[in-house]
Amino acid sequence: MRRASELEYRQRTAKRPGSGSLTFAEWRSGGVTGHIMATQTSPTLNPVECEPASSAVQPNNDLLVAEHVTVDYTSRGRRVRALDDVTLRIAPGEAVGLIGESGSGKTTLSRALLGLVKPTRGNVRYRGRDIYSLKVAQRHRLLGGDTALIFQDPRSSLNPRLSVGAVIRDPLQVRHIGSRHDREVRVNALLHDVGLPTELIDRPVRELSGGQLQRVAIARALAVEPSLVIADEPTSALDVSIQAQILNLLNNLKRSRGIALLVVSHDIRAIRFLCDRTAVMNQGSIVESSTTDSIFTCPKDAYTRQLLDAAPRLNYKHGTDAKKFL
Ligand SMILES: Nc1ncnc2c1ncn2[C@@H]1O[C@H](COP(=O)(O)OP(=O)(O)OP(=O)(O)O)[C@@H](O)[C@H]1O
Ligand SMILES: [Mg+2]
Repeated sequence: MRRASELEYRQRTAKRPGSGSLTFAEWRSGGVTGHIMATQTSPTLNPVECEPASSAVQPNNDLLVAEHVTVDYTSRGRRVRALDDVTLRIAPGEAVGLIGESGSGKTTLSRALLGLVKPTRGNVRYRGRDIYSLKVAQRHRLLGGDTALIFQDPRSSLNPRLSVGAVIRDPLQVRHIGSRHDREVRVNALLHDVGLPTELIDRPVRELSGGQLQRVAIARALAVEPSLVIADEPTSALDVSIQAQILNLLNNLKRSRGIALLVVSHDIRAIRFLCDRTAVMNQGSIVESSTTDSIFTCPKDAYTRQLLDAAPRLNYKHGTDAKKFL
């Protein structure tokens, strides 16, 4: 059982394609596909399935490592400790979930990982480089073309006046990637990959539905062919049926492109569906971190058990090489 999941893990992390050097043809061929199989599962806490904590997969080729990160904010002259000695690793192609109640520090950690909030203590290394010891421009160069952030509410994160095409094209233009023609080709391919008709390309963003907007935000995030995407509550502003579509899209993209994902969500069903490993946050600390399976089948921390007890049952179909959120 343990050997199988480690093998699966290696296969997944080995899948990462050659990132920025992909040709357009190869890149376009990485479209969204998926097979739906028909085995129903639900999260049952079965002590018999518990494995020792040491069996959790330990990635040894990390893309990103945060070590002992503490973040203090100052609010009205008072210090607020948002993160307290947090350590987290993400391997290439790995999907890591971050769960915890409101105010536990999930967004602060996501922002610290992407160079947007400087830790009071501790360090963040991306591809082996300590990002906060770099000059701002160097940091942007290192992270800007290789990471992307998907926000909770696309309506407030995307400029409503811009066209769909302009929103997706923008990160390519800013980084001078490709010719004008190349960029148009890529924008069309991205629309296709996130399941949007290319006729939307000239429509202003404000005319789109919530689900369409989140697809545009995902297409924009994918434009630079990132190695790491952080999705902070990517579905919580969407209604239930659209949530399932977006989760299936993220799952397909993860599988087809080998992108590492950090998924922040209150919806632990989404985390179980998408993530290989899960970290549980409480009051600025990670109280438990392990493979998603062991977090869900054998939670060790009392707080994790509380969170899982409060969660709705998982509902997805899965098979040998694909699963679908319902
Ligand atoms: N800019 C800020 N200034 C002061 N305090 C902040 C700031 N941003 C966040 N905080 C505080 O830091 C703590 C962690 O906030 P954070 O937004 O990271 O939590 P979260 O887990 O993402 O919450 P949610 O699930 O509601 O999005 C909270 O106590 C919050 O009030
Ligand atoms: Mg948050």
